[in-house]
Amino acid sequence: MRAIKKITCIGAGYVGGPTMSVVAQRCPEIEVTIVDMNTARIAAWNDSDLANLPVYEPGLDEVVAAARGRNLFFSTDVDKAIEEADMIFISVNTPTKTYGKGKGQAADLKFIELCARQIAAVATSDKIVVEKSTLPVRTAEALKSILDNTGSGVNFHILSNPEFLAEGTAVQDLQNPDRVLIGGEDAEAIQALVDIYAHWVPREKIITTNLWSSELSKLVANAFLAQRVSSINAISELCEVTGADVNEVSRAIGMDSRIGPKFLKASVGFGGSCFQKDILNLVYIARTYNLHAVADYWEQVILLNDHQKVRFAENIIKTLYNTVNGKKIAFLGWAFKKDTNDTRESAAIYVADHLLDEEAEVIVYDPKVSAEQVYKDLDYLGTRSPEANRRLVTVVEDPYEAVNDAHAIAVLTEWDEFKNYDWSKIKAGMKKPSFVFDGRKLLDRKQLEELGFVYYAIGE
Ligand code: NAD
Ligand code: UGA
Repeated sequence: MRAIKKITCIGAGYVGGPTMSVVAQRCPEIEVTIVDMNTARIAAWNDSDLANLPVYEPGLDEVVAAARGRNLFFSTDVDKAIEEADMIFISVNTPTKTYGKGKGQAADLKFIELCARQIAAVATSDKIVVEKSTLPVRTAEALKSILDNTGSGVNFHILSNPEFLAEGTAVQDLQNPDRVLIGGEDAEAIQALVDIYAHWVPREKIITTNLWSSELSKLVANAFLAQRVSSINAISELCEVTGADVNEVSRAIGMDSRIGPKFLKASVGFGGSCFQKDILNLVYIARTYNLHAVADYWEQVILLNDHQKVRFAENIIKTLYNTVNGKKIAFLGWAFKKDTNDTRESAAIYVADHLLDEEAEVIVYDPKVSAEQVYKDLDYLGTRSPEANRRLVTVVEDPYEAVNDAHAIAVLTEWDEFKNYDWSKIKAGMKKPSFVFDGRKLLDRKQLEELGFVYYAIGE
């Protein structure tokens, strides 16, 4: 097999952009082109002001600055990039289906299939096609069927190489991954991809498996991670009624090396584009094989997460004397976690939706999320008209403006800056009694209570 000189990645999103930027930075002899049909997104990746990159990730600007224009290119010319590449990563979105069979559960594979058909139509030389998107187990079979029936004489090898980066720490995760997983059938194709990662990842951390294990492992990894969050969130509710403190419980159990300390932080509920989508997909796959006990088991992770979001919103309503009608609730944070501008499936959206149903007035401040995005997220739910969302929700750029005259503050994202605010000044400007509902257990109870706040935190 010839050495890989040119790589193309289809999809310049949260995964394609950072992942391929790091590949380009670490492999200066390989030309990497990231393509997308979204022209605005590509323009933003090419923006000379690195503050305007479409994905906010700590350290990403430096990686892009090091490689862009040298061996890293962003383009909308998908055909040209396919034709020229030796290896093509598919990193397009695989959302939950919103129509037809499997609606609300199965992964929508139309974007993946379109990529395969475009590759099949355009390629005139042999290619290694790498699944980077998260896919249902056995998707490679469908890709193979499309690519092997072009009649063009071009040979395709399919690899699965799921991505495990977490947003907010993407660059760090890519530079120093716990492992890289490569599934495939063809030893030479696998070796070609191993050689790329071996530029910076220790060989023992690069695992190779068969295609199906690789595809399935990605769904299982996310299911296990989300399950830990739902497990500790279930315990948080028990802590609230028994006088135990969920942080103390997490610490106590996490020191057992068999359990481990990570992913035991109770919260208002997990968000992000993948946990829910991937578990729903796992549940759907299990049901397709008539494995109903397996499906029911994993579905509980989602149900508990939904319960946690509702419970947080209902506690606000109950505490504010059973009505939030016309009351100003300041949201600190809208992103699904800190250090990202991504809001997909953020708990904040669902908590807001619940409070808006009760005619609360919600004022949002998030250091990285725009007003346009907040409205887009609420409009997408379709619970009320866009006009009603704009009437009830205000998005501000100054946190002190958000909390001024508020009846309550809800902490939805664990941004570090919230800890360092002048809480005494905030207290002075709020309605009395001044309530804080901390969905992240971020703030200092002692400090806030000394200032006279009524402070509620998940799991206390
Ligand atoms: P995203 O929506 O941010 O990006 C996908 C991009 O693909 C979009 O910009 C879209 O315009 C583009 N696209 C779709 N079809 C196309 C086509 N036919 N031609 C050209 N461009 C096309 O999605 P993402 O968050 O980067 O996720 C991509 C995949 O990676 C998903 O399967 C996801 O499950 C998986 N994943 C995501 C994360 C994460 O943290 N976001 C982590 C690991 C894995
Ligand atoms: C997650 C996985 O961690 C990645 O390995 C995976 O690649 C990615 O999904 C994906 O497939 O998209 P991500 O969603 O970016 O990454 O972020 P996480 O750090 O996993 O957080 C997910 C959600 O769980 C956030 O809302 C976070 O606040 C919440 N969480 C996480 C908790 O509430 N408690 C915890 O202890 C950990």
